[in-house]
Amino acid sequence: MSRKNKAGVSILGMEMQSPFIVGSGPLSHSGASMIELHRNGAGAVVTKTIRNEPADNPFPHIASIAPAGSMINAELWSDIPGEQWVEEEIPAAAREEVAVVASIGHTEEEAAKWVPPADRAGAQAIELVSYDQRTMGAMVRAAVSATKKPVIAKLSPNWKDPLSGVKEMEELGVSGFTVMDSLGPVLRIDIKTGLPLMGSEDGRGWLTGAALKPLTLHYIALLHAHTTLPIIGLGGCVSSEDAVEMAMAGAAAVGVCSVLMIRGPAYLKTLTAGTEALLAKLGYASLGEIRGLFNRKKHTPFTGAPEFRFSPGVCTDCGRCRTVCSYAAQRTTSQALDVDYVACRYCGLCVSVCPTGAIELQWKEDSQI
Ligand SMILES: Cc1cc2nc3c(=O)[nH]c(=O)nc-3n(C[C@H](O)[C@H](O)[C@H](O)COP(=O)(O)O)c2cc1C
Ligand code: SF4
Ligand code: SF4
Repeated sequence: MSRKNKAGVSILGMEMQSPFIVGSGPLSHSGASMIELHRNGAGAVVTKTIRNEPADNPFPHIASIAPAGSMINAELWSDIPGEQWVEEEIPAAAREEVAVVASIGHTEEEAAKWVPPADRAGAQAIELVSYDQRTMGAMVRAAVSATKKPVIAKLSPNWKDPLSGVKEMEELGVSGFTVMDSLGPVLRIDIKTGLPLMGSEDGRGWLTGAALKPLTLHYIALLHAHTTLPIIGLGGCVSSEDAVEMAMAGAAAVGVCSVLMIRGPAYLKTLTAGTEALLAKLGYASLGEIRGLFNRKKHTPFTGAPEFRFSPGVCTDCGRCRTVCSYAAQRTTSQALDVDYVACRYCGLCVSVCPTGAIELQWKEDSQI
């Protein structure tokens, strides 16, 4: 029986019950936790990264930080042995019909060692991850020669030029890409003590969650313009709107990690139902229909005279538009649109902060194709 979801996503031959793939992280630390994610509606689940030696994580190694929905972490790969993953955890999840993607890092030797048993254990795909871009090509080569299952390369924003190896990986037989990994190193300081929030040796960690989304979107759209292979958009999706944005940038499926750690696995159901409703509201039948919409649009810088539009009945007179105008040009109240057109630079900030959509700038519609 096909479990294809209403949002219309099924990638890399996996039978996905939702378009959301849970990224490698603490929530996928074991077979039991992956089954729990599956029961909550995950389309697929990527294991915590399997390596030769279990990780010994510093204390503390995860914190929720501002802006809301963001996190800093200094967590390494899986803290359970690879043998346990391939003998117990992956088979247990596969028996319960979890679409398991085995995450394997971070060297060619580890790819050669762990891809075959992960494949035999029931993983439906392999995801390769590395801190060092130079090892990725060799890892892909080793993985592709060791399995017929799809091999996904996880790209990292911490590499010098994250997309520079894409062509080589395609030639080596990679089946898709995950864009992207956590961003770092980054630092947060506890202002009560002056000490770092993370217990790692240098106090640094990696940034994930909401704060990452604009960077993720940039890389998804860039990669989508250069490949026809499926892209899993991962990094900063915390809402259905984010999922739609990632699809428009070019994602074939949407990854989530931090948001589920903060809101719990049950939030997967909210995300899935919300995405289906949002697609219907926007007039689209599926995420596939909007995949790469951004690159299909002809975005040309606007050169005409933008015009403000105002819906008086919608304005609550909150004053945010007036507060944010650096040029004191925005003076609109619930009574009437009032803009000093000489002082206004048409920066657009007032429109973007309006909570009700009472003010708009017309250039957006004009620049659509
Ligand atoms: C605590 C934590 C641990 C993570 N561990 C791994 C890991 O072992 N392997 C990996 O490839 N990515 C790991 N990630 C990165 C996530 O898979 C994902 O790329 C990143 O969190 C961005 O997605 P998000 O913004 O939805 O959280 C981890 C992320 C977090 C927050
Ligand atoms: S578009 Fe910019 S400059 Fe013009 S009123 Fe709004 S905030 Fe002020
Ligand atoms: S931000 Fe929007 S709702 Fe608030 S005063 Fe301005 S136009 Fe009205």
